[in-house]
Amino acid sequence: MRNHRLAPGLPRTFAAGLALVSLWPAGAFAETVVKIGAALSMTGPAAVYGATQKAGILAAVEDVNRSGKLPGIKLEAVIEDDASTKEQGIAVYQRFINRDKVSAIIGPTLSNTATAADPLAQAAKVPVVAVSNTAPVGITDIGTYIWRVSLTEGQVIPGALARLKAKLSFKKAALFYGNDDAFTQAGYKVMKGALDAAGIPIAGTQTFAKPDKDYSAQLTALKALSPDILLVSALAENAAGIVAQARQLGWNVPIMGGNGFNSPAFIKNAGPAAEGVYVGTAWNKVSTDAANQAFLAGMKGRGVDPDQFCAQAYTGILVIAEGIRLSGGKGSREDVRNGFLKLKNLTTPLGPFSFTKDRDGEHPSSVQIVRDGKFQIVP
Ligand code: ALA
Repeated sequence: MRNHRLAPGLPRTFAAGLALVSLWPAGAFAETVVKIGAALSMTGPAAVYGATQKAGILAAVEDVNRSGKLPGIKLEAVIEDDASTKEQGIAVYQRFINRDKVSAIIGPTLSNTATAADPLAQAAKVPVVAVSNTAPVGITDIGTYIWRVSLTEGQVIPGALARLKAKLSFKKAALFYGNDDAFTQAGYKVMKGALDAAGIPIAGTQTFAKPDKDYSAQLTALKALSPDILLVSALAENAAGIVAQARQLGWNVPIMGGNGFNSPAFIKNAGPAAEGVYVGTAWNKVSTDAANQAFLAGMKGRGVDPDQFCAQAYTGILVIAEGIRLSGGKGSREDVRNGFLKLKNLTTPLGPFSFTKDRDGEHPSSVQIVRDGKFQIVP
């Protein structure tokens, strides 16, 4: 039996409040838990991206819950390994949709996996927020529940190439890309289209596959054509091997990579060969915007050195939280999607973020060069 007797001298309203609280049934003030599934590549060829994405998601969930932005709602991340494969991506999505009853899904890390897994979410009407898929076609066009934070190769590469052309004034290019992956193939198409549009002849094109380790035959063939720049569409592991082997061949041509290069793991694995490589980026890490500075300080406090993938994953959670807030609901699947329809100019570490009418992301982009073992923003 609860004791409702009050100490003498307590103000009446406070006393009445205490009585009310003590009579209220247990759990009446419990928060609604909103689950967000994150399908991330923790193993396989995209594992280097998954590790920093996970750090970004966990940090953002903590920050949103602490912020008081969603009164009565607590976000909870359910993180599973998509193993960088379509099969595992599908299995993880099935668990998120049917077992965990998540309100939204972040991921999967690779566009290649998304092409197979996202149709399940679309069919089940579960909103997906892609935070690293950069293949322009075949992701958000799956349907109206598929949204994207990550800028596509089409949104980053043509601008980056134009800036480099002004700087390096190259006359002919060569292309090298992975022909067994939706993202690397898409990156190649964008690179080719950007070169064609800029009137830069393509001296030659070569391909490789994800399991390859030796690229010397293709690189030797391209080197013989004497291009002024080499454009490479590859995931980080292949990217490091390609750049290291190009330099071992004594080929010092400027190299520009697609989004797959945008990981510190590329620099670590390529070693000194990575110096001077150009990469477009969706995250300007030296941005002095308050949101970016707060993100950097928060990650530093957690002992994490963030990269673009981390900043995008962090933003993915911010976007979902804002969707829920804008919907005015309790965080159901429909609330998330309804909120996305209203979302505009959200303050994020990537800059002010909006969705396009086709559900892709819209915010500023930058160009980086590897200098002294780090990505540096090209001013
Ligand atoms: N940007 C890469 C992709 O889309 C990771 O697959």
